Formats: sequence, structure tokens, C-alpha cells
Amino acid sequence: MKTGLALLGCGTVGTAVAEMLLAEKELLQERSGQSLELKHILVRNRRRKRAVKVPSRLWTTNPSDIWADPTVDVVVELIGGLEPARTLALAALRAGKHLVTANKHLLAVHGAELFAAAMKARRAVCFEASCGGAIPIIMALTRGLVANDIQRVIGIVNGTCNYILTEMSASQRTYADALAEAQAAGYAEADPTLDVNGTDSAHKLAILAALAFGAKVSFSHIEVSGIHGLQDQDLKYGRELGYVCKLLAIAEKSDHGISLRVHPTFLDQKQLLANVNGAFNAISVSGHAAGQTIYYGRGAGPRPTASAVIADIVEASMGTAAMVFAGLPLLTRRKSMPIVPTRDILSRNYLRMTALDVPGVMHHITGILGQQGISIAAVVQHESSVGQYVPLVVITHEARDGAVTDAVKKIDRLRCIRGHTVRIRIMEP
Ligand code: HSE
Repeated sequence: MKTGLALLGCGTVGTAVAEMLLAEKELLQERSGQSLELKHILVRNRRRKRAVKVPSRLWTTNPSDIWADPTVDVVVELIGGLEPARTLALAALRAGKHLVTANKHLLAVHGAELFAAAMKARRAVCFEASCGGAIPIIMALTRGLVANDIQRVIGIVNGTCNYILTEMSASQRTYADALAEAQAAGYAEADPTLDVNGTDSAHKLAILAALAFGAKVSFSHIEVSGIHGLQDQDLKYGRELGYVCKLLAIAEKSDHGISLRVHPTFLDQKQLLANVNGAFNAISVSGHAAGQTIYYGRGAGPRPTASAVIADIVEASMGTAAMVFAGLPLLTRRKSMPIVPTRDILSRNYLRMTALDVPGVMHHITGILGQQGISIAAVVQHESSVGQYVPLVVITHEARDGAVTDAVKKIDRLRCIRGHTVRIRIMEP
């Protein structure tokens, strides 16, 4: 069967998708049974030099060429960001095309609107490439684990951050050098701030949690902190204490509702997730029947992402995407669930303060922690000259998140403390 395709955008991922569709046509036909015909590529500027060689008739700057072409069945949105991606995606659905998108930002913010438009048009929205790059995590959550009441999803879902943290730890690279390398390898977003401040991970968590729990999840429900405030010394102290730092996206269900958060986290170095390195992603999903399952693979980069985009194109082409989309409540008939505030979550914490090494400092700090009901498990301070500012690391026993937040605010107001306390939650196996 022949399926006509149009790409919207031809950046890093678009180029890889176009290349694979043209250069690997036979392999794709042999494996999927589908003949995938690239008909149009929508770009802003036709004259720009492109890394991929395609017949010049494919380039267009006019989206109406695509909507009006009855031979186009599937539109693949790879522009990224909110606009014009949202307007074009809605127009594609209204024109009766299936939509494939890798745009996690768009789905996290306007997913409900896109899904409603797709239902109305009796078409599908496919988004395997939006989370976890090449890892078929959307397929796992919607199909493989459909028999499960899912209790928890924990993911390393940003390749750029994981690459930076790995390089800083293993090769002692600086944060800036590691970020520049991640950008050069095509892992980072057009604006890498979205990677390092945790926003990209939160977009992906919104998508994963909605599927896992069949819940209406808004991106604004997620509490987010990124890796941009971390320093080499935090990773070093972590190593001294047997921990590895990862940016985790966490969604949990309890009797009180669901909790959603993204933050740097210390993991025991023996845990599986602690050993996910470089631009690789891993997502752990725990269900009542399956128990814990873990999915691992390349989470960023042009070809791994193109692999997932093409899997979606094949599903749309075969007709399975439309059946699953119309049939699964997890996608289109989600429940409202209460959100448990992060303040109520319990965890151990690493706190690094920059403290003046004079008599009484410890007394002030332990006093504030004590008032908030936070018990200290360990303290690390290396010897220095008296009267200097020194790093002081405190590990807490399990404490309420909000109590630690309030204590840190008070500690940072002490005259003997310089700058802001660095806080990293610790997740036990
Ligand atoms: N910027 C993203 C990352 C790309 O680094 O993981 C994949 O979504």
C-alpha cells in the first residue's frame, strides 16, 4: 500500500527522517510492508542550503499545497515549539491527514486540543518520538502495559542533561564544555535553556503521566528544577557518599492523587538508573501486575528520533494508529485526578551550604533544621582556615519536602551563609 507523506520542518530531526525515507525506502518497505512516498517538505526558506538531497519539487513554503493534495495521508510535524506548529498541526488534522509529531512542548501544553481535533476528524495523533527518542515508551504504556494499574514512572528523559552530568562526573569536563558538545551532537533543543532548566523533561513527564494514569495532566502541575545550578563539587561530594546525580522526572500515584516532579536526584551508584550514561535515556514503569519494567535507549539525536517518527508513520499508514487512537480511553477520555503537592512528599536530602567557618554556625543551621522537624543523618566539612567560607554538606533523614524548602530559605538568610544552598533529593532503591 502507498502512503503519501509531508514533512513540516526540515531541521535536525526532519533531515534525518527525509534521509531515511529516501535512502532506506527498500528496507522500510521490506520490514513494514508499506510504501512510504515523501511528497512535500514545508520550509520557511526554500533557498537555504540543506544537509539532505531531495528532488527540488518536494520543497514548498505554502502549507495549502499539502492540505489540498489528496495523495498526502500523513503529515509529520517536526518544527518544534508552540507556534506555528500548533496552527499547522490543527490545519493538517482538519484537512483529514493523520498527524505524527515529535513535539513534546506542543503536546504537553495543547495535547487536549490536538486530540479533540483528531477525534472530530476521525484521524490519529501519533507521538512516539516525543519522549525517550528511539525507545518505544508510548507503545509500551498504551499497548504493552495496558493491563496494569500503573503506580509509578521514573525517567531520565533528557539526553542533554544526562550527557552533561555524565561528562562532568566521568571526564571532569566543565558544564559549559559538556553543553556545547551536546549541542554539536544535535541532542539539545533549539533553546538549550529548556533542557538544562528541566522544562523539556517536564514536557515529557506530562505526556508519560497522562498515559500511565489515564489522567488529565497539565504541564503546570509539575514542579521543576534543573541542573543549571549544580557544580562539580556537588557531583564530587555525591561520589564520596556513594551517589550519582541524575535529572529525574517522577510521577507517582497514591490514595491521595498523583504527584509530578522533575529535579536533580542522587541515586545509589549501584542502582540501574544511576548507570544510564551519556545521551541515553531510561524510563522505569511500575504496574500492579507487571511489577517494575525498564526501557533504555538513545533518548536524543537525529537518527534515534527519526527511528521513532518512522515507526509512527508506519502505524498511521497501516491503519492501526487510527484504531488505537479512537479506542483507547488512556488517550482521549482521561480522568481528572487530584494533584499531591510536592511539599507533602517525603525524601532524604543533600544540602550544600557555603558557610563562614566561625563558632556557632553549626548551631544556627541545626537549630533551623530542628525547628522544621528535620533530622540530620550526616555532615561533611573538610578542614579549612578559620574565618573562611567553606562548603558544608548536610544529609538529612527522610523529611517532608516543604519543611526542607522552608528550612533552606531560612538558612540562606543567615549572615554566616553565602549565596544559595544547593539541594539534591536522594532517592532510595
Ligand atoms: N533535547 C532533547 C534531549 C531531545 O536532550 O533529550 C530529545 O527530546
